[in-house]
Amino acid sequence: MDNLPQSNDQYGTKEYWNSRYAQEADGSSFDWFKSYSDIAHIIHELIPERASRILMLGCGNSKLSEEMYEDGYKNIVNIDYSAVVIEQMQNRHGGVRPEMQWHEMDVRDLKFEKGTFDVAIDKGTMDAMMTAKGDIWNPPQQVIDDCTKEASEVIRVLKEQGSFIYLTFGQPHFRKRFLNVAGTKGLEIRELGEAFHYYLYILRR
Ligand SMILES: C[S@@+](CC[C@H](N)C(=O)[O-])C[C@H]1O[C@@H](n2cnc3c(N)ncnc32)[C@H](O)[C@@H]1O
Repeated sequence: MDNLPQSNDQYGTKEYWNSRYAQEADGSSFDWFKSYSDIAHIIHELIPERASRILMLGCGNSKLSEEMYEDGYKNIVNIDYSAVVIEQMQNRHGGVRPEMQWHEMDVRDLKFEKGTFDVAIDKGTMDAMMTAKGDIWNPPQQVIDDCTKEASEVIRVLKEQGSFIYLTFGQPHFRKRFLNVAGTKGLEIRELGEAFHYYLYILRR
């Protein structure tokens, strides 16, 4: 891959993502960690209603939304702060999957009314905000602020029974602290995978 960043902390900048997506050929896609077939059984369990209104946080050019749509979850609102990828995804899916929406938006500053989504999904997006240089055991204040802002914004836009589903390679020690949002019903953590572990965090409003 020739579009890897020179240093890990570039994953935390909009400029990196815009130039990465601009370099990729039209129609290309890349899924971080897991693809839909690996997690479909979990999605079915956690989102039993196909009509649920779903917010996809930092969608990138992943196939997850497209494959969920084909599986009947048509009410998906996709956001990413890269204008480049949002335009590519709008062009790719707008005509064929008209019920799905695409918006350039920052997960730390959601432009939606409170209590309007059943589910929000983050696959690798909070991780991208955690790549700033520094001690992972003691992250820089900027990382703490960015991640807690995302979590509180997500909880704000979720309906009363809504849930925030976060899929990551990040172990609980490094992630739990960002998912402690006051007034929520609590955090469930599941370990996925065999040789190499992924984690699923489910924060219920
Ligand atoms: C590691 S990629 C994951 C993409 C996709 N979710 C997947 O599973 O393949 C991170 C994505 O999050 C986006 N992103 C990072 N920080 C963001 C922020 N603060 N607001 C919105 N999108 C962000 C990036 O532009 C990139 O598309």
